[in-house]
Amino acid sequence: MIDRRRFLFLSALTVPLLSSRRSAAQKTDRVSTVKSKFPVVVSTWDSGIRANAAAWNVLGKKGRALDAVEQAARSAEDEISCCVGLGAYPDRDGFVTLDASIMDEFANCGSVAFVRHIKNPISVARKLMETTPHVFLAGDGAEQFAIQNGFERIPEKLSPEAQKAYKEWLKKSQYKSVINIENSKKRSEVITPYRFDDGSPNHDTMGTIALDAKGNLSGACTTSGMAFKIHGRVGDSPIIGSGLFVDNEIGAATSSGVGEEVIRICGTHTVIESMRHGMTPENACREAVERIVKRDPEKAKTLQVGFIAIGKNGKVGAYSVQKGFTYAVTNDEFPEGKVYEAESRFE
Ligand code: GLY
Repeated sequence: MIDRRRFLFLSALTVPLLSSRRSAAQKTDRVSTVKSKFPVVVSTWDSGIRANAAAWNVLGKKGRALDAVEQAARSAEDEISCCVGLGAYPDRDGFVTLDASIMDEFANCGSVAFVRHIKNPISVARKLMETTPHVFLAGDGAEQFAIQNGFERIPEKLSPEAQKAYKEWLKKSQYKSVINIENSKKRSEVITPYRFDDGSPNHDTMGTIALDAKGNLSGACTTSGMAFKIHGRVGDSPIIGSGLFVDNEIGAATSSGVGEEVIRICGTHTVIESMRHGMTPENACREAVERIVKRDPEKAKTLQVGFIAIGKNGKVGAYSVQKGFTYAVTNDEFPEGKVYEAESRFE
């Protein structure tokens, strides 16, 4: 018989992250390739439009892509949302733990994982990247490093939204098996008690990639990971080559969705390597999705992963396992930003 621990472990692999939600009235173009000149910034989900606005304050003034993606991630971390920053939903023990990573045009990178009490983990990741020989800190060590470097320690307190969702979740303490399938036929079968009910935009991991006026690429990725995850669980977002990868000769890519699936295929590194061998950003994202689906086609029907990528020439691509994965693009043509829905493997 399967014991409780193993059950929780297996269940956690398919637990839902929270979903991007648009009102039914909102129409979004369904495209997986956007041609763009640079500078350009691309972020995951509808809420990426706000992150892009923070990035555009830098990029639009010919600033560096690295500064732009950090600002994008910080703006997402400062919002109250289900899936990013200290206002996000907690793990199953009631603690909000955050993961973040950043990478620049020189392949410098920094990550923090399983970090608590820090409002802007993305800036801790950058600090680590720029001031130490290391690239990855986790847990108490990451928090200690942050505090030693002047970041404020915020006492543990769930946001009212997170408190409500957690209380609801505790009634059954169950993981659910479907993530971000907003438009799927299965949606009606999926009970997600922690989903926002008011139709307001909601989002998953915030991944942002940018190409600046000098033609340099950078990326940032920030998340609270799976809602109600096992305490200590870390997803793809802080893992360079999984949730984020930048190669200034080729492109930049980031991901959102079930991190375990992305880690198994070194998702964003896979995207960039496919681009190195000539694929467009869209096809490279599609290829990564296909690898996830091929590994376990049945399981793939019940989970969501989305990739976005920018090529060195400014071409943007995206693709997801399920319908409903949106991404925001901001450039000179659309300085206010424009949201698109990626094509997907399953409808
Ligand atoms: N993609 C975010 C996570 O799985 O934690």
